[in-house]
Amino acid sequence: KRRRKSLLILNTTMNILILGAGGREHTFAWKIAQSPLCNQLFVAPGNSGTSSIATNLNVSVVNFEGIKKQVLAHDINMVVVGPEDPLVNGIYDFFLNDPELHQVAVIGPQKAAAQLEGSKEFAKEFLSRHGIPTAAYQSFTKDTLDQGYAFLESVNSPYVLKADGLAAGKGVLILTDINEAKQELKSMLVDSKFGAASTKVVIEEFLDGIELSCFVLTDGKNYKLLPTAKDYKRIGEGDTGLNTGGMGAISPVPFVDSVLLTKIENRIVKPTVDGLAKDNLPYKGFIFIGLIVVDNEPMVIEYNVRMGDPETEVVLPRLKTDLLEIFQAIDNECLNEIEIEIYPQTAVTVMLVSGGYPEAYEKEKEITGLESVKESIVFHAGATKADGKVITSGGRVLTVTSLGGDFRSALETTYKSIESIKFEAMNYRTDIGFDL
Ligand code: AMP
Ligand code: GLY
Repeated sequence: KRRRKSLLILNTTMNILILGAGGREHTFAWKIAQSPLCNQLFVAPGNSGTSSIATNLNVSVVNFEGIKKQVLAHDINMVVVGPEDPLVNGIYDFFLNDPELHQVAVIGPQKAAAQLEGSKEFAKEFLSRHGIPTAAYQSFTKDTLDQGYAFLESVNSPYVLKADGLAAGKGVLILTDINEAKQELKSMLVDSKFGAASTKVVIEEFLDGIELSCFVLTDGKNYKLLPTAKDYKRIGEGDTGLNTGGMGAISPVPFVDSVLLTKIENRIVKPTVDGLAKDNLPYKGFIFIGLIVVDNEPMVIEYNVRMGDPETEVVLPRLKTDLLEIFQAIDNECLNEIEIEIYPQTAVTVMLVSGGYPEAYEKEKEITGLESVKESIVFHAGATKADGKVITSGGRVLTVTSLGGDFRSALETTYKSIESIKFEAMNYRTDIGFDL
């Protein structure tokens, strides 16, 4: 069932609710607050950054009934969904099927389409059905564990094992030793290493190449490309150590030339959007396509049904067009009528994290010096207000974005701004962009 066309008429102001609490959501709020189409702006649950430009509402992103109460209480016209959980749990459908919420626009895919992120197997089947380049794969359950072992023996090292369901970014294992790979496969399928998320496991061919992400907006029929970005996932310098949510990002990706971009658009983006329509998977939101470029040929490693964090913190500052105008066009299925303008500068962001992250770390450390930052934008992630102070409340605390003529000059600005900011045990990578 499709949502009836919105009664929102282009150029009317709206009350907006953003769901989420990280740097991504602070960036959405920062961008939307600049729009003349924005009347009142709310963020749930938000953080110290969003509280200075919007009203934070104390409700969890997966408490749909709680969200409904707030939407009705504040006459919200549009909900912008930051993280994947509410989308995979069907927030779009919840609004669609509720007579009191039916007219409220939701920016995101329907639950069926959100399976592109919610299930690796679903995504792989979608990719192969629509002839979109991706790594070869097979999937297994505990009943087919022996076939899984045999499959591992039939392919070359390294072995890529992916928990089918959402595992907070931890569900992918890349192993070089066959015995370790077998053991992990068993631990995922039989011992529920990632809970229900690893009831099924996708084993994939290892792709050796350079990664980047491309971001697409779609109304289900039409699409627009947003700038490319590259994030730095590991905690340590030189991309070493444990995986994190992301330690920094750069947009655009300097090695993406027009030849590569055309391949990405024709072989990946177009067939993805056409595939959604063919499969009757309604989608009005962002598609984040994780790519690996092998010998100049782009291949899909994953779909996310939302924006990336911290990729948002470099993509949105480069967007000149009013984001709410774009969202209205998405809701009205006329995205083709909108022109998307992008600033030519490069944007970079560097994440400041709590010492110990991504393992155990302390919270509630006071953050000082924010007011001294003049040449960069500081987006708050795991930070909150208490007694008039800004204190840490998460592992990824703040991210410092700068624009520049190229990524080196933008980085110079960001690293200079970081010198003003202090909190106990603050840690960050000093080598963002080292590989470019
Ligand atoms: P994903 O959660 O699917 O993005 O996987 C996490 C990370 O694992 C990716 O960012 C890649 O660095 C790596 N990865 C995933 N699939 C593959 C693959 N088939 N070959 C090589 N690396 C991969
Ligand atoms: N930075 C990666 C993500 O948002 O999934």
